[in-house]
This record gives sequence, structure tokens and C-alpha cells, in this order.
Amino acid sequence: MSQPIRIAVIGSGYVGLVAAVCFAEIGHEVICVDNDPRKVDALQAGDTLIHEEFLPQLLARYRNGRIQFTTDLGAATRACDAIFIAVGTPQSETGDADLSYVEAVACEIARSLNTYKVIVEKSTVPVYTNEWIRRAIERNGVARELFDVVSNPEFLREGTAVSDFLHPDRIVVGADQEAAANLLAAIYAPLTTGAYYQRADAIPGGCSVAAPPPLLHTSTKSAEIIKHASNAFLAMKISFINAVSNLCEATDANVEQVARGMGLDARIGPRFLRPGIGYGGSCFPKDVAAFRSVAEQLGLNFNLLAEVESINAQQKKRFLSKVRSALWTLRGKRLAVLGLAFKGETDDIRDSPAVELVQMFLAEGCSVTAYDPAAIKRTQQHLPASDQLRYAEDAYAAAEDADALIVLTDWAEFATLDLTRLNNALRYPIVIDGRNLYDPAKMAEHGFTYLSIGRPAAYPARSSVTA
Ligand code: UDX
Repeated sequence: MSQPIRIAVIGSGYVGLVAAVCFAEIGHEVICVDNDPRKVDALQAGDTLIHEEFLPQLLARYRNGRIQFTTDLGAATRACDAIFIAVGTPQSETGDADLSYVEAVACEIARSLNTYKVIVEKSTVPVYTNEWIRRAIERNGVARELFDVVSNPEFLREGTAVSDFLHPDRIVVGADQEAAANLLAAIYAPLTTGAYYQRADAIPGGCSVAAPPPLLHTSTKSAEIIKHASNAFLAMKISFINAVSNLCEATDANVEQVARGMGLDARIGPRFLRPGIGYGGSCFPKDVAAFRSVAEQLGLNFNLLAEVESINAQQKKRFLSKVRSALWTLRGKRLAVLGLAFKGETDDIRDSPAVELVQMFLAEGCSVTAYDPAAIKRTQQHLPASDQLRYAEDAYAAAEDADALIVLTDWAEFATLDLTRLNNALRYPIVIDGRNLYDPAKMAEHGFTYLSIGRPAAYPARSSVTA
């Protein structure tokens, strides 16, 4: 086992908390800092704050041992060799990333720098942020030889964050100085050497002793661009298949077959070609806008990104029209909605296309009964229950007496619902599926009128109509 390194992680959101816990898991001594004392208290008491597989086990294993939680950023800075900044970079009104949290943290770190430290930017930030951090620290009177700033973007997805972190496709280290690059290489050595995967209690995933993840060493600017370009490219793939799905609908073709045929080309690959109601979440919408804004500020034409955004916005409106065309009129209709989270297996509703669609249904005068396995609590804070909007305990209760069932999130549990029971609960057996969770032929056999994305509509098999 390589030497443990003392690491501070600033920010206990998705990226910060997962990184902190995973650094402890690969042997390091971690201090996780958050300026919200309630969050720190909750984490110290073992509450993970977010719904994420493996996080509770790892937190229980290392809490108050190899990982400490505190609000004291200065003390954490002084005690550690590497300081990871993982605070939020929300979208400003112009689409830029708002870097005020990053700047505030950089200034606070500067005040506590005593010996040589490596400051690592892990939040998704525009190119040149590393330079701004360096200047901010120097402006606070810190000698240049006391620190280096590197970029180490994180590619984890919500819902699979812990295994994504410990089994990454690649680790990108953007460092312009050797000492800093070496420290980052040492931090990730348990993964890149494969040592971690030899452990009997290692979190399972795609990497192994024989196939450990590669570490790509780049310049800081390249690393910053890699992160934005990767997210923008994935968002583009989704918008592309959504546009193709519209073409399939117009021609009675089947987008699943088209996506399979495209994805088998190794140059394209099958992932992120699932059509739906558009991408959402805390990253893609914000990062595409920020990347577009970076290009604009540099005087470059990257209109492709505006098109990606426009297709994404259209996709929600098209889905609303699909629901309207299935039900003739919307005012006064009772809709059962399955899914509020921006994707399955998470309780996150930030920029959730599902929540946006619920709001559109309400604005059209529908009443909605919604169910989500994990995101109801968060949605209720945003959209409280009312006469028009109710929350159900499970999918069948949501479906009770509804004019149609609308699927908005790709939760695995929705794909395995008892279709007969669902049909019996609904007033009319109409399912409009924004995530293509069901086989149209099977839905027809179970007596449903079934509309999905980019696939021919299916209608009840004759025997079930008469049944
Ligand atoms: C994303 C990136 O994948 C990750 O690398 C980065 O670190 C953070 O942003 P995340 O936001 O957790 O991760 O979700 P992801 O699984 O990428 O899905 C994003 C959105 O795209 C979701 O709304 C999802 O439903 C949608 N999506 C994804 C599709 O509509 N079709 C697809 O084929 C894939």
C-alpha cells in the first residue's frame, strides 16, 4: 500500500463528499470541509445527505476515523498536503459559470498557506480558472513557491457516483509543474497501479488489477477543456438521438433499432443514445451553457452548442404535445406521473425535465398524482401538494383512476411494474412513456394504448379490447 496522503476536500456536495469518502477508501487521511454547520453535524452523525449506492457503507467505515468533517477551512488547509476545491459553480444569468464560491475558497485557503500545498480544482470550471485561482492566492500575499494549482476534473455520474469514482474510464490531471503532478499521481496510485482492486472488500466496478484506469497528464487548460468538452459532447449525443427519434416518429421507423444500428459502430458507441424527454441534472444544462459562453467570450462560433440546447428544450414541448394529442384536451384531465428525479436511481431534481413537465401539465389545467421512489421529498419543497398536485405512495396508487399514465424518469423499478395491476388501476389504459421503458408489443398485449419516443404507437390487442 502506498503512503497515505493528507487531503482536504472543500465542499460536501455530490462531487466533494463522494471524492472525500473515496479518498479515504483508497487509504488517505481526509478532512472534508463545508461552511454549513448543519451539514457537517449530519455527516458526523452518519447521515450521507444524498441518495447514493455504497456511500452509507463507506461513510460508516471511515467516519471519525480516516475522514473528519469540519467547518474550519483554515485548519484543514494547514493540516493537509493537497486541497481539493469541490464547491458549486452555478449558472449565472448570462450562462457563464458563477465562480464566486471558488474565488472565496481560494482566498480563504491563501490566508492559511504555511507550507507547500497543491490546490486542486475539481469543480467543473471554464478554461483559465486555474490561472484565476493562482492570481487570487498570489494577490493575498502568498509566495509563488508555496503552492501549485492543478485541475483534476471529476466525471462521476449521480446514482453510480462511488463506483464511477473508484472505477473511472480515465483520471485526468492537468498540472503544469512536476511536483504537483507527482502528488496527484501518488494520490491516485492505489487505483492506477491496480492495488485497490486486489482488496477483497473493494467496491465492485469495471476496473481490475489487470485493467486499472489510465492517468492522463495534461496542461491545466487542456484538463479544464476536457471536462466541459466531454459533458457537451455527451449532451450533443443525447440531443442528436432525440432529433433522430423525431425523424423516426415522422416516418414510422423505430429509434431503438436505429440507435442499436448506430451504436454498433465502434466509432460511435452505444452509450448516451437513449432518446427521451431531454437531458437534465446539475451538470449537462449548466455545462453546455458555460462552454457556449466560453466560446462566445473568445469570439468563436460554436453554434452547435446552442442547437444542442434548443433540441433539448423542444423535446419537452414535443412530449407535452404528444400527451395532448393522446388525450385530445388537457384541461381537467387527471394524470398519473411516474418519476420526478432528473434520471433514475437518484433523488436529485435539479433541472429535472420531469419536474418541468409536471409544471407544464399543471399550467395546462391537468391534475397530477405523482410518484417517485426517492425524489418526492425534494419535489415537495419546490412544488407543495395542493388540490391540483398530489403525491402517491407507489406507482399503483398514482395510477388509481387516472386518465393516463405518464412516465418521466427511467427508474429501474418502473420497468418491472405489474402491467395488469396498472391497467386495472387506471381509468383509461393509456401510457405515454418519455423514457421507452416498455416493449410496445407487450403493452398492446396488456391492453394499453402506448405512446413512447421515436417508436410506432401500440394499441390494445383485439382480445383485450373486448375483455
Ligand atoms: C453527467 C455526466 O455523465 C458525468 O460524467 C458528469 O460528471 C456529471 O454530469 P449526471 O448528471 O449524473 O452525469 O447524469 P447522466 O447519467 O450523465 O444523465 C444526464 C441526463 O441525460 C439525465 O437527465 C439523463 O436522463 C439524460 N440521458 C442520459 C438521456 O436522456 N439519454 C441518455 O442516453 C443518457
